[in-house]
Amino acid sequence: MRAIVISEPGGPDVLTWTEQPDPRPGPGEVLLDVAATAVNRADLLQRQGVYPPPPGVTEVPGLECSGVVAELGEGVTGLAVGDEVCALLAGGGYAERVVVPAGQVLPVPAGVDLVTAASLPEVACTVWSNVVLTAGLVTDELLLVHGGAGGIGTHAIQVGKALGARVAVTAGSAERLERCAALGAEVLVNYKEQDFVEEVRSATDGRGADVVLDNMGAKYLPGNVSVLARNGRLVIIGMQGGVKGELNVGALLGKCGSVTATTLRNRPLDEKAAIVGEVVTQLWPLVEAGTVQPVVHEVLPVERVADAHRAMADGGVFGKLVLRMP
Ligand SMILES: NC(=O)c1ccc[n+]([C@@H]2O[C@H](COP(=O)([O-])OP(=O)(O)OC[C@H]3O[C@@H](n4cnc5c(N)ncnc54)[C@H](OP(=O)(O)O)[C@@H]3O)[C@@H](O)[C@H]2O)c1
Repeated sequence: MRAIVISEPGGPDVLTWTEQPDPRPGPGEVLLDVAATAVNRADLLQRQGVYPPPPGVTEVPGLECSGVVAELGEGVTGLAVGDEVCALLAGGGYAERVVVPAGQVLPVPAGVDLVTAASLPEVACTVWSNVVLTAGLVTDELLLVHGGAGGIGTHAIQVGKALGARVAVTAGSAERLERCAALGAEVLVNYKEQDFVEEVRSATDGRGADVVLDNMGAKYLPGNVSVLARNGRLVIIGMQGGVKGELNVGALLGKCGSVTATTLRNRPLDEKAAIVGEVVTQLWPLVEAGTVQPVVHEVLPVERVADAHRAMADGGVFGKLVLRMP
């Protein structure tokens, strides 16, 4: 098969399309012929050499894909050769073939084409596991989504809305905020010009956010704790604003708040399978009804992966970037 490999840690040009040995499915695994993959911020970090794959996982980047089942490993049931699927991966999606544990394979939701389906597994599993399974967002609560115009953000807005919550977002321009509003966001904060704590408080009569989905980490920790409503839940999924911040425990306990930080990639297989199972039973019906839609900025041929990495690093991508296999 051919795959994108990282010839050495560095800029986008180290991504090289080259011949690689075909992977073989072990017990409980599935071999997929990949139709498309999608770019995640973690791929940029892996390319730079600061986010290596977990032990035992291929060095080929790519945390999600769509494709067709080519072979079943021993003991796999419920799937058949020829099934069109998408998958949550620990790596290996930037390739013509990939092996994935069967528990991380999802059907392509009805009404979504195979290439577009590559944009869904990461955002679906991240948003559902954090906003619903961890933070327990319910109807009439306020969900604050930082980075509302990104891949995760555009999905989180729609999931929040579908659950009957009000959604507030931060984004870096008026144009991006307008597009978030079109997806269902009601409280729009330009993080370059406005203070999200003030804006969310004033939009909620001082109450604040019940759930915050945060991509910034350290930089936003004080503001996020401050903006939490009573019994509020802050879920941190990114470190774009650094890793070490100061937590005001007094402010947190005064409002009975909680702070959680999670990752998907390094979770044990049974936890990932449980999340995937919830996504298929709870979220896929919303996708199939069109209530939650994939948001794809652009589909590029995989040979243009370097352009895709540059575009994500430069900002301005709304939703997901998909890479189509030849
Ligand atoms: N823990 C996990 O399991 C997990 C899984 C998937 C993703 N993630 C993380 O989640 C984050 C979002 O992922 P993604 O795929 O959606 O990436 P993305 O599409 O590149 O989106 C990143 C977003 O960050 C926003 N941003 C930049 N500076 C900001 C600031 N000061 N305040 C608020 N927002 C700011 C950008 O907003 P503008 O473009 O509007 O400026 C952009 O929308 C990343 O940090 C990623 O690593 C974590």
